[in-house]
Amino acid sequence: MTDKLTKLSWLEELYMLSQTAASVTDLEEALNLMLRHIADGFSAGSGTLALVQVDQQVLEIAAGTDLPREAIGRHILYGQGVLGKVAQEGEPMLINGTLDASKTSRPSGPLTRRVPSSSMCWPLKLKGNVMGVLAVNRFEPQQGFDDKDLQRGGIMVNMLALVIENLRMHREQKQRIAHLSDLNEKMLEMNRQLANTQAQLLQQEKLASIGQLAAGIAHEINNPLGFVSSNLRSLNGYVEALIGRVLAQPSTMTSDEELQYLMEDVPILVKETSEGLERVRRIVQDLRDFSRIDAADQWEFADINAHLQSAINLGLTEFKDRIDIQTDYGDIPHVQCLLAQLNQVFLCLMINGVQAIAGKGTMTISTGVDSSRQQVWISVSDSGCGIPSENMTRIFEPFFTTKPIGKGIGLGLSLAYSIVKKHDGLLTVSSSEGHGSTFEVRLPIRH
Ligand SMILES: Nc1ncnc2c1ncn2[C@@H]1O[C@H](COP(=O)(O)OP(=O)(O)OP(=O)(O)O)[C@@H](O)[C@H]1O
Ligand SMILES: [Mg+2]
Repeated sequence: MTDKLTKLSWLEELYMLSQTAASVTDLEEALNLMLRHIADGFSAGSGTLALVQVDQQVLEIAAGTDLPREAIGRHILYGQGVLGKVAQEGEPMLINGTLDASKTSRPSGPLTRRVPSSSMCWPLKLKGNVMGVLAVNRFEPQQGFDDKDLQRGGIMVNMLALVIENLRMHREQKQRIAHLSDLNEKMLEMNRQLANTQAQLLQQEKLASIGQLAAGIAHEINNPLGFVSSNLRSLNGYVEALIGRVLAQPSTMTSDEELQYLMEDVPILVKETSEGLERVRRIVQDLRDFSRIDAADQWEFADINAHLQSAINLGLTEFKDRIDIQTDYGDIPHVQCLLAQLNQVFLCLMINGVQAIAGKGTMTISTGVDSSRQQVWISVSDSGCGIPSENMTRIFEPFFTTKPIGKGIGLGLSLAYSIVKKHDGLLTVSSSEGHGSTFEVRLPIRH
């Protein structure tokens, strides 16, 4: 029966087992398979494999063909029992017949269920160091092992030592790779968080500086606007009085053609000027509404339609010639929001829309409320170039831009996204390449 050991097929099988073991994640299972194969080769009734614990004078039972499940993992001290002795001395041992009680003393309770009649135990050595021990046993009425068996096994266990070391290294490598990829994932996450924080900071800076600028300009214009308007009103009164006086004069004056022309044209000029001033006043009001620097981080109920119109007046007027701007405002309730930040979102979507339209085109800005009256929606639609599908998931990433350097830094949408998220809202997009895009903001009415 021991001939099995010398058969090529048996060796080949052991080799195959060691190979598959490398891909088996459960080391214990792999060791069990190999131990079973070896025990079978020796026609042994049972086998035990114990490995030396790193930096400890202790063996740990790693596999056993005839052991109760709980025996796996149990420790054996060096010098204790047959396994402990072989580990300590580093020499193989053959025991036939009744075992000496001192040699068989067990760490705690019997490891095997039956008492063997013959046992062989080898140290597994690697570069002179004992890394474990392997024992096989036979039971009555089987014939006992002999010295030849012990010798043959010696060669084989050397090979096993190599296989086990390989397995250990393989497992360690796997653990290290898992650990590294874990670290890598954590680093990527930290990177993402960093980019987001940076984006938030930039947003605050951007908001603050735009707000400050807008508020500053509005304030500066407001003063002269006040006295120019007031002076114009006075001027209008004076002109009217002057014309009244002239008309009351003798006909020589009223027949003066030049004077006639002045009297007709001055009131028209004054009227046009006051219309112009009214427009300036509206722009200043929009700027003030838009900046709301004093209320930058205050929640307030706001008329979204009015603020969309402010954003249009501010951001889109200069494009009126090439872009047809349509509005369709629904009858929506006031929304609790951080107004200055929401204005940023509207402006960002509108500017993106304008930038997506190469020549002439249309932009439609509409609002509405959902049927449960819990949410309002704002949609900004353009007839521009659209977004290629491969970019759809990326456009909200900070610093993603398809625009040339100097034209865009790729922060608009990521800022808009984080602002809308701060409102517990949703910013979504639908687009078809070459046909335009629609961005939709959904906001809860109150928080
Ligand atoms: N309405 C749109 N139509 C087509 N593409 C769009 C539209 N809106 C956004 N995009 C795409 O998404 C990208 C990211 O937009 P985002 O507003 O975040 O940055 P940006 O406009 O490039 O730069 P900026 O920081 O100045 O806003 C754009 O570069 C563009 O490719
Ligand atoms: Mg943009």
